[in-house]
Amino acid sequence: MIRLDKYLANLWLISRRTADKIFKSTEILVNGEKIIKSDTKITYGDVITFDGIEIDILEKVHVILYKPAWYISSDEDEAWYLSYRNLLQDCPYVEMLHVAGRLDQDTEWLLLLSSDWQFIHQVISPKLNKEKEYEVHLGRNISDKELGELAKGVILDNGYHTLPAKVQKLESKKILLTITEWKYHQVKRMLEAVDNQVIYLKRLRIGEWTLEGLEKWEWKYLEK
Ligand code: URA
Repeated sequence: MIRLDKYLANLWLISRRTADKIFKSTEILVNGEKIIKSDTKITYGDVITFDGIEIDILEKVHVILYKPAWYISSDEDEAWYLSYRNLLQDCPYVEMLHVAGRLDQDTEWLLLLSSDWQFIHQVISPKLNKEKEYEVHLGRNISDKELGELAKGVILDNGYHTLPAKVQKLESKKILLTITEWKYHQVKRMLEAVDNQVIYLKRLRIGEWTLEGLEKWEWKYLEK
């Protein structure tokens, strides 16, 4: 559900106040019923007529956001942490989006969002084994033996044995790690399993999706 005035304001890149004025001077119907309150909630499948013109609400929207650190993956703000949604205020669909594969608040880069639960479930399905690629900065130098262990799979703190991963050493304290699972805090826990520590973490890719063309704080629609 999304507020009609907010939806129209974002769609037309106008302020909510202007959208409000247009509201008062225009006949707007939702599913054939005249709307008087601008905060009326709309959802997929609703038919909106604006001065006799029917407006489509897109049913499925997918977005890639270049998330900076310290924004959380929750749909709502929590205590003093801001939700990723604060970075998408110019996206008309912001309130319909949900995260496909959370990122910790201190992790940067690629956050994949969608209005379509089926798509989200497909992306994070263990059966599809979608690759996630991370740049990992480490607390101490990593040895070839530890690189080999990460590649083979390590035993996490709860006894779970991770699947084989791709590991590439970039510098003595920096690796590229590609995993296919979605376990909670997986990268940090994998590094703990080889007695190391993640200092900084960046997700570069999910499957075929990257941040190409985006600067920090920016977002783009995903072409599927
Ligand atoms: N693994 C982590 O430890 N943190 C993330 O944000 C993503 C994967």
